[in-house]
Amino acid sequence: MSEPLKVAIAGLGTVGIGTIQVLTIHADQVAARCGRPIQITAVSARNRRRKRDADVSSYVWFDDPVVMAKEADADVIVELIGGSSGVALDLTREALAAGRHVVTANKALMAEAGAGLAIEAEASGKTLAYEAAVAGGIPIIKALREGLGGNSFSRVLGILNGTCNYILSTMDATGRDFDDVLKDAQDLGYAEADPSFDIDGVDAAHKLAILSSLAFGTKVDFESVYVEGIRNVIAKDFEYARDLGYRVKLLGLTGELDGGIYQWVHPCLIDAHGPLAAVDGSFNAIIAEGDFVGRSTYEGRGAGAGPTASAVVADLMDIAAGRFNHTFAVPSEDLRNAASVQVEKRVGAYYVRLKVLDQAGVFADVGSAFRDHRISMESIIQRDHDSDGNVHVVIVTHDVLESQMMDALEDLEKHEAMVEAPHFIRIENLGGE
Ligand code: HSE
Repeated sequence: MSEPLKVAIAGLGTVGIGTIQVLTIHADQVAARCGRPIQITAVSARNRRRKRDADVSSYVWFDDPVVMAKEADADVIVELIGGSSGVALDLTREALAAGRHVVTANKALMAEAGAGLAIEAEASGKTLAYEAAVAGGIPIIKALREGLGGNSFSRVLGILNGTCNYILSTMDATGRDFDDVLKDAQDLGYAEADPSFDIDGVDAAHKLAILSSLAFGTKVDFESVYVEGIRNVIAKDFEYARDLGYRVKLLGLTGELDGGIYQWVHPCLIDAHGPLAAVDGSFNAIIAEGDFVGRSTYEGRGAGAGPTASAVVADLMDIAAGRFNHTFAVPSEDLRNAASVQVEKRVGAYYVRLKVLDQAGVFADVGSAFRDHRISMESIIQRDHDSDGNVHVVIVTHDVLESQMMDALEDLEKHEAMVEAPHFIRIENLGGE
C-alpha cells in the first residue's frame, strides 16, 4: 500500500474528536477504500489539558494552529475552529500557501471568504474541501458537483438549519413558545455558539450561498442572500397553518429567475402532505431539481459529531485517493458574477395573520386593501378572541408578486382597526413527490 496521507487537525471540539474516532475505528476500511492509510500526525486546540473522548497524546501538539498549518508534518490541514475570519482564515491561507490541502467544516468561512480561498487553492494546486460545511450527514456537495454533475439545475432548496427545524417542529408538536423551545435546542447542543446565527437564518444563508455557487456556477455571494429568521413565528401560526393544510419550515431556496439568481432564506408554509413536510427535529433535507434527473431529495442529520466527522473523512479520502475537484466545481475564473434577484420579484401565495379590533367593517376594509392592490384572496377567516377583545384574521392569497403584497400590507398597517403590524409567511409550492 502507498505512503499514508498525513493529517493535522486544528480544533478538538466534538467534530475534531469525532474525526479522530472515525479515522481510528475505521482505519482499515478507510485505507482499503482509498488505497492508502490516513494518519493523524498533529493536533492543535485551545486547551491541551482538557479531558477528551479520544487519546491525542501520540500526536504532535501545537498551541498555535496557524504555526501548525505551516510547520506540521502533514499533507492536509483540517480546519475545525470556525468563524469567517481570524484564526480559521489565517490558518487556511497559511496551509494553502505552504502547499497543503485544506479540509474544513466551516460554512461561514466558505460563504464569506470562499471565493478568494478558491483562487489561493488553485494557485497552490491544492484541494480546498468542505463537504462538512453544508448539512454534514448529507453528501450534498458531492451530489451537486459529481453525482448530478451532468444536469442543469433549475432550483435547489431545503431545510438547512437543524436548530430552526427542531424549534419549529417542537413548537408545532407541543404548542410551546419560541423562547422556551430555543432553550431546549441549546441544551441539546444543536445551536451555534451565537444562537442568533441559527434563529436569524444566517447559518442557513451561509449554506445556501455555497449550494447556489455549486449549482449555478456562480461566484459564492453570501452578501446577496435575503435572510429572514424564525423569531416572528408564533405558536398560533402552527395551529392556523395546520388547519389550512400546511406546516411551517425555514427553507433556503436558490434558483434562476429573470436571468439572475435568487438566494432566499425565510420561513415557509409548505403542503403538510408534500415533500419536506415530514422532516422534523434536527434533521436537514435538500431537494435538487435538475433537467435530466428531475427531483432528487436527500435527508440526514445536519449537525453533531458523527455526521460532520463522516463528511470530513469523506473529503480526506478523496484527497488520499488522488481525486481532485475544483473548490466550486469549476476553475474560479469560469465562475460567473450573476445578477441577484431580490425577493420583491418573488411570485407566490402568502399567509397573512392580522390582529384587529373585533368591529364592524374590518373584513370589508381588509378585502378592499387587497382589491386595491389586485390581490386575489383564496380564503379569509376570523380566529380566536384575545382576552382584550381583539381577534386574529388569517388570509391566504393566490399567487401574487411580493412587492404588490408588501404594498398591500403597508396600507393595511395604517388602518385604525389594526392592533399590530401584519405578519406574513410565504407559501412555497414544492410540487408533488
Ligand atoms: N447550528 C447548525 C444547525 C449546525 O443547527 O444546523 C451546523 O451547521
